[in-house]
Amino acid sequence: MAAMVFEVLTIFPALIEAYTSESIMRRAREKGVVEVFVYDIREFTTDRHRQVDDYPYGGGAGMILKPDPVCRALEHLDRDGEERLKVLLTPAGRVFDQSLAEEYARSRGRILLIAGRYEGVDERIRSFVDEELSIGDYVLTGGELPALVIIDAVTRLLPGAVGDSRSVREESFTTGLLDYPQYTRPPDFRGMKVPEVLLSGNHELIRRWRRKEALRRTLRRRPDLLRKARLDEEDRRLLKEIKEEEQWR
Ligand code: ADE
Repeated sequence: MAAMVFEVLTIFPALIEAYTSESIMRRAREKGVVEVFVYDIREFTTDRHRQVDDYPYGGGAGMILKPDPVCRALEHLDRDGEERLKVLLTPAGRVFDQSLAEEYARSRGRILLIAGRYEGVDERIRSFVDEELSIGDYVLTGGELPALVIIDAVTRLLPGAVGDSRSVREESFTTGLLDYPQYTRPPDFRGMKVPEVLLSGNHELIRRWRRKEALRRTLRRRPDLLRKARLDEEDRRLLKEIKEEEQWR
């Protein structure tokens, strides 16, 4: 199977290399599940000072990413004739979420991520990209962490990237609910006991308990997710039980 490919345009290539050279990302690269190529925007400057940013026209604080080096980098990459989705990371973009991660993972395509700086990028860069993405409503110093967040969230969905693929399929957000509570040994930790049902060996009871606790947690913490989740008959019955239980607390 062809590897999914991520390309990152950044002025801090070492940040991208560092994260993608450890743990799951490292293994996924070694196994050929994903390829990550990092390009230093500074390599595409043509002036003696290799300047990648400049003062904003009209005045104001901060520096703006210049359009020329980014565009030259894009032109250089496009010379290989490959189709690539060009994505600019910016707080002004569409908010990235699990369903977009799934869409990208399914596409198994080639995605180019352009990490801007927080003060901004020259507006004309926007006309060379296909999509603008934000990872949430907060402002970071640059697009490197957002690029890594997207690479990480997509890579772990690719077949072969994570040891036990069940752990990806069954978890939170993929099912539309928050995760149920998990326990490992010991059965009694400082007086806090593992729920009896989990020690019972009764798989049907365990399944139902987990579903109910996932619903309970989502109802309490993220009712917004519950409204969007696909619920069946059993879920609605469990939710009714939960609401009745909670009245007595
Ligand atoms: N650059 C700075 N903050 C960002 C964010 N929240 N998402 C994407 N890119 C950014």
